[in-house]
Amino acid sequence: MVDRPTLFITRLLPQPVMDAIPRHYQLIAEPVDGPSTAEQLRHGFAQADAVICTLNDRIDASLLAHATKLKIIANYAVGYNNIDVSAAARRGITITNTPDVLTDATADLTWALLLALARRVVEADAWVRTGDWSGWTPTQLLGADVSGKILGIIGMGRIGQAVAQRASGFRMSVLYAGRHPIDRPTGVTWEWHPLDVVLAKSDFLSLHVPLTDATRHLIGRRELALMKSTAYLINTSRGPVIDEAALAAALETRTIAGAGLDVYEQEPVIFPGLIPRPNVVLLPHLGSATDETRVQMGRICLDNIAAVLEGRPAPNRVLCV
Ligand code: DGY
Repeated sequence: MVDRPTLFITRLLPQPVMDAIPRHYQLIAEPVDGPSTAEQLRHGFAQADAVICTLNDRIDASLLAHATKLKIIANYAVGYNNIDVSAAARRGITITNTPDVLTDATADLTWALLLALARRVVEADAWVRTGDWSGWTPTQLLGADVSGKILGIIGMGRIGQAVAQRASGFRMSVLYAGRHPIDRPTGVTWEWHPLDVVLAKSDFLSLHVPLTDATRHLIGRRELALMKSTAYLINTSRGPVIDEAALAAALETRTIAGAGLDVYEQEPVIFPGLIPRPNVVLLPHLGSATDETRVQMGRICLDNIAAVLEGRPAPNRVLCV
């Protein structure tokens, strides 16, 4: 049998993806359902022709120094802030990501957070389970209307637009901030405004920017103070886009009404001031977590690897800027 190229996977992927691997690749090690140690990463990177890594793996210049035969790192995520793309480019290693296939799943989860916050779904569920609910009353667990309100989107890329499209069913006005106005799809009335205007006008503010030096702590004390005291902040992008200490303080002082978070500054550590708050919904980074999406993300990784190892351009190559 002809030698198959070597592949290192930093974590176990969904079974249909794992099943597709042995036909084409020789695995450096059997992946486990937990993080690889630093030693396992070094060994994997040193031996592999191709790597599939996840957003938890920090791929920096010192790790890449071991990667003498590596041709491609397929990141099992759309965001690739975990990888030193310039260091990889200097070594001639292609980096790819998994755009498009997770847009709908992430937009749906953003809406799950928004609705859960506005209608106090998590609080209500916990209360019903205590057995203390004694029946309907006019004053129980009142939340906020969603329909007809203003949705603010920071970062109108693929996921931001998918979130905005879903707002039409709720008759919401959509305002957005980003580097520049986008070409709007026909029939939508989304309005571009400077960030501070979107902050000040939105009833629900949802973050969809990539994590870069420019977006780290994009939402801090000053920005939270510009928001309405009745507004809710939702983040399904990357945790460090929000200054969590400032957010916890803003929730404490009721500067804003609540927050829905799927991502955190120091995952999996949650800023302690956020945990006891009933007006905060906390999810464990589930944006793309559906069976269908996670399998498609794996297929994209494998397609990119096949392309690069066969000498073709990678369909989802990310470039260093
Ligand atoms: C991504 O792809 O960047 C997501 O955060 C993964 O769920």
